Amino acid sequence: MAEVADEQLPAQFLANKIVALGGEPTTQLRPVATARTNREMLEAVLAAEQQATQDSIERAKQAEELGDKGLVVQLEDIVRDESNHADETERILRDWPL
Ligand SMILES: [Fe+2]
Repeated sequence: MAEVADEQLPAQFLANKIVALGGEPTTQLRPVATARTNREMLEAVLAAEQQATQDSIERAKQAEELGDKGLVVQLEDIVRDESNHADETERILRDWPL
């Protein structure tokens, strides 16, 4: 629950930015992997955090090409946050079982 804001605020920012650039934010979510155990759930979380990090790195490169430095900085902040989430999840998995 503590990470909900960390995940929601960037999504809100990106949706607003897409609208500001004349686009329409998608309402289609990525598929969510099913998990039979807590460990499998955390492994799916780790994969999602790593994907979010890579996606944000790619978007930051695109923003740089666009010349939108404010957007670059925002996206780099998202890269930092998502990679921190991935690191934290990796640490939990490494110490498993708790
Ligand atoms: Fe995250």
